[in-house]
Amino acid sequence: MCSIIGYKGQLIVAPVLVDSLKRMEYRGYDSVGIATINNGKILLKKGVGKVVDVNKNLDLSSMDGHIGIGHTRWATHGGVTEKNAHPHYGCTDSIAIVHNGIIENHSELMEELIELGHVFKSDTDSEVIAHLLERYYAEHKNIKSSMIETCRRLKGYYAFVAAFEDGTICGSRYNEPLVIGLADTGYFISSDILGFIGYTDKAIFLDNRDIVVLDSKTLQIYDQDGKTVKRTLTQVAWELAAIDKGKYAHHTLKEIHEQPSVVEKIGIQNLDKIEEFCSILKNSKAVFLTGSGTSYHCALIAKHILSNFAKIHAETVVSSEFQYTLDGIDNSSVLLALSQSGETADVLQAVKAAKNVGAKILSIVNIPTSSLAKISDSFLTIECGPEIGVAATKSFTAQLSLIYMIVDTLCNGYLGFKVNKQFLVGALREALDYEIEIRGIAEKLRDARDIYVLGRSIHYPIALEGALKIKELSYIHAEGIAAGELKHGPLALIDRNSYVIIINPNDSTSDNNIASAHEVKARGATIIGISNTPNEVYDIFIKIPFIQCNAIYPIIEVLPLQILAYYLSLVKNIDPDYPRNLAKSVTVK
Ligand code: AGP
Repeated sequence: MCSIIGYKGQLIVAPVLVDSLKRMEYRGYDSVGIATINNGKILLKKGVGKVVDVNKNLDLSSMDGHIGIGHTRWATHGGVTEKNAHPHYGCTDSIAIVHNGIIENHSELMEELIELGHVFKSDTDSEVIAHLLERYYAEHKNIKSSMIETCRRLKGYYAFVAAFEDGTICGSRYNEPLVIGLADTGYFISSDILGFIGYTDKAIFLDNRDIVVLDSKTLQIYDQDGKTVKRTLTQVAWELAAIDKGKYAHHTLKEIHEQPSVVEKIGIQNLDKIEEFCSILKNSKAVFLTGSGTSYHCALIAKHILSNFAKIHAETVVSSEFQYTLDGIDNSSVLLALSQSGETADVLQAVKAAKNVGAKILSIVNIPTSSLAKISDSFLTIECGPEIGVAATKSFTAQLSLIYMIVDTLCNGYLGFKVNKQFLVGALREALDYEIEIRGIAEKLRDARDIYVLGRSIHYPIALEGALKIKELSYIHAEGIAAGELKHGPLALIDRNSYVIIINPNDSTSDNNIASAHEVKARGATIIGISNTPNEVYDIFIKIPFIQCNAIYPIIEVLPLQILAYYLSLVKNIDPDYPRNLAKSVTVK
């Protein structure tokens, strides 16, 4: 969603904030702002656009001082305008705040504050925090007490950092992450460890409702009643600092290319944990799988292979719907939640609902310090390194590979993943060799209005995933369809302007897919076949390598779809790393 950062220390703060915000921009990139404190005055600059652009126009990095806060926004309340960009002042410029989350009772609080004479300048829910702090600070003349009173009044979920003109920086959180970074050169308060990982690997993850106060002398953490609390110091992985694009034009392309090595490493350090997962899955009465977006597509494949190879029946429920379908889940069930970030609000809500009825929680995450990992009974990490591109690519193949490892362990190797893993890695490398051809295909599809992606059985979730990638990266309408469902309605959409991609490795679904391809071709559509075997029905052919073990084709066939979506974004002049209206980590419901 949004990213927030606060810093107090020896370094000139503005370039530090700009650097941190660039690292965390994947969380939201509608607008940017920073506020610095110098000689008892808060100076604030903000603008609409990405960090580099706003910095170019306003020269944020030239601001003075060693204390400051910053923000990149993903709009929830109020349009994408300069006045709605954070930081927000209260009535005066003596307090400024940056916020991530949603204050559900903001209208009620605003009314109350307006009665008291406060004047609001933005359309955001966040501004209310600055006015509450101002109100309680005027009453108590004490920053800690004004933080406690303010937090007591907030309903919803939040992480915020406030800067007071005396140089104090404070923060608090409720169901949104907030982490302290302890560097030799100063303290950070950030929504993400990427905010400070270039400066320190020492982090303190705050608990819900903790309040941190960083005044002239010390850093103190209090609970909601103002009692001092101690929180554990965690050493986070330095590798997370590796977020440069290297030789690639975009993070998305780099992450697509990292997939063979990500798959190669998968599960190696986790063998005991995989055994633990297997025993929990085997011994529970009912298995549920959940996730959002791409992670949900992984859950759909997990359901297939759990049932076909491990003979474990599982229910899949997309996380945003989970709370409405709690029937059948109880304390003898297990919920396996998949999430790259481990911070997706819909996933966390599903997990909490399952926990409330006593279910055991397993999760697969990329970030071991994430909220999801923390509330799980046991978790596995995909260890694919930071994924910055908003479109999930390497995290998907890593999740899938880990699921295949688990199922292969459950069925004593019958699935064939482990013995074929090295061939798979080779096949992924080969699949990437078709990048140039796929770039040419993207040129041909530049003006496509509709792209349909068809797949059957285990390939249907890949059709959904391919369509999701095309939608989010190119803004072209794309739909994933179970090929057998065509004749039940979608065929009516097909005409000479339609492009239809058929995912068709040469397995038991192949003959039926070819029949579907003929059906759409007869209606004038252009057919793009993704297969290891050419066929005269394909107008355009994308070759994928042969592999002995048919069940692992999903991990290979998704690559050409990711590459196609990436090049479609380029031919349409879209920045693939930052597609419009989206954010990498969706921490609001
Ligand atoms: C995928 O390309 C998306 N950007 C999105 O669907 C994503 O997978 C979803 O928001 C879930 O994120 P998570 O895996 O971090 O929970």
